[in-house]
Amino acid sequence: MEGRLINPSSGLPDAKLSPVADSSVLQIWGGHPLHGHVRISGAKNSALVIMAGTLLCSGDCHIRNVPLLVDVDRMGQVLSALGVSVQRNGDILDINASNITSSKAPYELVTQLRASFFAIGPILARLGVAQMPLPGGCAIGARPVDLHVRGLQAMGAEVQIEHGICNAYVPGKNRRLKGAKIYLDIPSVGATETLMMAATLAEGETIIENAAREPEVVDLANFCIAMGAKIQGAGTSTITIDGVPKLHSIDYTIIPDRIEAGTFLVAGAITRSDILLSPVVPEHLVPVIAKLREIGVPIVEEAPDSLRLLPAERLVAADIETMPHPGFPTDMQAPFMALLAIAEGDSLINETVFENRLRHASELNRLGADIRVKGNTAFVRGVPLLSGAPVIGTDLRAAAALVVAGLAANGKTTIQGLRYLDRGYDRLDLKLLELGAKIQRLPAAGADPEVAPTTINPEASISS
Ligand code: UD1
Repeated sequence: MEGRLINPSSGLPDAKLSPVADSSVLQIWGGHPLHGHVRISGAKNSALVIMAGTLLCSGDCHIRNVPLLVDVDRMGQVLSALGVSVQRNGDILDINASNITSSKAPYELVTQLRASFFAIGPILARLGVAQMPLPGGCAIGARPVDLHVRGLQAMGAEVQIEHGICNAYVPGKNRRLKGAKIYLDIPSVGATETLMMAATLAEGETIIENAAREPEVVDLANFCIAMGAKIQGAGTSTITIDGVPKLHSIDYTIIPDRIEAGTFLVAGAITRSDILLSPVVPEHLVPVIAKLREIGVPIVEEAPDSLRLLPAERLVAADIETMPHPGFPTDMQAPFMALLAIAEGDSLINETVFENRLRHASELNRLGADIRVKGNTAFVRGVPLLSGAPVIGTDLRAAAALVVAGLAANGKTTIQGLRYLDRGYDRLDLKLLELGAKIQRLPAAGADPEVAPTTINPEASISS
């Protein structure tokens, strides 16, 4: 938190005012193996939706293991704008939504953070009315919210979209949503979460069919259950929720971030390193670990909550198709593309979850990779070595892929687009620095030393 500007209303660092500037860059001198232990932070996607879930509770929510991220700051600002009290103390958030003073989330925040739209479910369940700006598309695709809206309508909400705002209210005297049977056309993570939250306070039983099975959905369900919600089947395709009138105070710890852990595994694999990761839930990483082993990377479960990655003798090509959980996660596709860029042979990567999520391919080619993209498929021909160059991250995971590639590339890689990285990785550069990477964060203007620093000042790479 040191050096961060604090938003006076939320007590949180202000994302807009933050010194995490768009103009800063990361410089990496590649080719150095990593070593040692890395601590994995709490899951971004759990933290964001659990923060939305606190709107269901009229008591105190004490949430532990919350990662330090710009997106978490922004979600805190959304809650503050609704009149909710939000206090941060290290990795603990204390949230009290006993007095929600507004049912309208601010446009400029929701459009910056898609997950804040998911708050429409709990706001509607608590107040019987919600006004939520549409989150809009983003770099990786159009990302509609039709499934969220249709589910809320099935639960009795009247929903109208006008001037870019989704206006929802629950008719009737008691303004409570009604349990319903909902089938999702796609097992959308966000729609499952929105509807599950809404259903916790609805009258009667809600059944969500073809629900998302991601670990973060299960984490949200466990959070709600711990507050007194009646939810069964989270983690399977059918979730059943029996509505209750009220939820109570809670002390809850967020699960470790499987995507952050996966990114460190790929960083270790590409640099042929020996590193230890904890805490992790190996079960959440099954598709990632299986793919890394197929590529030739040895991984051992050292303890129930830690993984050790050992140097690979050879990296070999593998095909990847992204899928909803428990399939291969779309959020790991970009870092794996960086790894496969230097694996022996031809790999094929098929992105099936988002329509525009291969833009990192051309940036990886700037580092010497040989990748062709046709539609949603990338054909990766392994090259022996990448070479450092200036590159730009176009979305969160694309930026992470470039960091991973830069760790392996010969010479200096300079990465722009850190505003994406800082949204979703908790001090990635500092953690890599502690593992021995030659990495530093600089203001863009100063990003031109020609030689790797012999001693690196850790302060220089703290993102916040
Ligand atoms: C969440 C994650 C994101 C991850 C994604 C897929 C959060 C905050 N973000 O995003 O990191 O990449 O899951 O694992 O948890 N769709 C519709 N209509 C809808 C909703 C979704 O067509 O109403 C489509 C989307 O455009 C996309 C697909 O469904 O093509 C999956 O999206 P979804 O699972 O909803 O992703 P998010 O919840 O937005």
